[in-house]
Amino acid sequence: QTGAFTFDPGFTSTAACESALTYIDGDEGVLLHRGYSIEELSEQSSFMEVAYLLTEGELPSREQLEKFTYTITRHTMVHEQLAQFFRGFRRDAHPMAIMCGVVGALSAFYHDSTDINDPKQREIASHRLIAKMPTIAAMAYKYSVGQPFMYPDNSLSYTGNFLRMTFGVPAEPYVVNPVVERALDRIFILHADHEQNASTSTVRLAGSSGANPFACIAAGIACLWGPAHGGANEAALNMLREIGTPDRIAHYIERAKDKNDPFRLMGFGHRVYKNYDPRATVMQKTVREVLTALNVNDPIFEVALQLEEMALSDSYFIEKKLFPNVDFYSGIILSAIGFPTSMFTALFALARTVGWIAQWIEMISDPEQKIGRPRQLYTGPAMRPYVPLSAR
Ligand code: SDX
Repeated sequence: QTGAFTFDPGFTSTAACESALTYIDGDEGVLLHRGYSIEELSEQSSFMEVAYLLTEGELPSREQLEKFTYTITRHTMVHEQLAQFFRGFRRDAHPMAIMCGVVGALSAFYHDSTDINDPKQREIASHRLIAKMPTIAAMAYKYSVGQPFMYPDNSLSYTGNFLRMTFGVPAEPYVVNPVVERALDRIFILHADHEQNASTSTVRLAGSSGANPFACIAAGIACLWGPAHGGANEAALNMLREIGTPDRIAHYIERAKDKNDPFRLMGFGHRVYKNYDPRATVMQKTVREVLTALNVNDPIFEVALQLEEMALSDSYFIEKKLFPNVDFYSGIILSAIGFPTSMFTALFALARTVGWIAQWIEMISDPEQKIGRPRQLYTGPAMRPYVPLSAR
């Protein structure tokens, strides 16, 4: 209910904005989307249903969900000329570099037809972005491996369509593995939105100037790429692989505690959670399900479990309230499904586009909203007279 949660006045005074989308209690490890817990949504809902919940405000009826899914499905194809953008990149370009460029280029196709003051055109733009992100992400992967782009197959689910566009080839039929489809759909739910994180704040700030939503999402992709943010899932798996075996964990934990060593435990710690990130709990459970179902015995999972156990019993991590976050386990699942680490953050961006666009709509729809203009604490010199070059 409104008012069900009491906020710390100090927090409210520094809040960046008001939002009804997502509630986080970092001390209790609570994450709600429009009042529904991430645990229940990830267990019982689908990514399309969560996308509707975040953008429309309520869980959809069966008819509403079917209509929403139909609309998204029919926007998944991209303009044929957009495919030309990929040809300008080197084959080994990082997928996030491609996503930044290609999503930003969507502005060139839709900017003139997107009046952000028209609710219907805002809705069309949001559907286009939610629909085309999987296609663009799959194209980035195909381009990196030198395989032909796969057109969407409207008979598949949102997530099944993405799997086929990524791993299917024209030469043979692609059968979607239901276990993989359900796990990836759950991972998309876990990444859908997360209050005013760095990339969402970037999207809101860009949108507050009246920039078109395609350019705003491109700005969010750029911010998400950083290893302190969405790039952590790629960094976390690379770290686990570098550790390699349980006997090497203690050395890396000591490195993470050493202030003179820039090494951090990737996938650990959070700006808001000072308790378990509830998404990490669901993710760990999903790792077990996927590895068992795919009959994959990845020793890295054992390294991750022992690393978590050793860190959470170490006074440094206990005192600083450092727990695994959403990025700690996700890479193990994505790797087991067949994604290269370079695609991990692109998948995060694919899912977070739902939250970014929902936050953008919420902001743009507010008639009172003004251009964002953060201020600063000035630490430079006081006013002083100019010194001519001859006197310097
Ligand atoms: C995401 O905001 C969001 O909601 C983001 C996100 C989302 O869904 O959008 O949840 C997604 O970005 C998750 C975070 C992914 N990043 C990582 O896993 C990278 C590794 N984590 C760290 O870089 C770090 O924890 C941050 C960047 C996430 C937070 O850094 P802060 O703000 O410094 O964290 P803090 O204030 O809680 O740190 C307290 C102390 C500090 O030491 P002191 O200054 O007190 O001596 O703990 C230290 C930090 O240096 N610390 C760590 C650590 N994280 C914090 N020490 C070792 N390993 C770590 N991972």
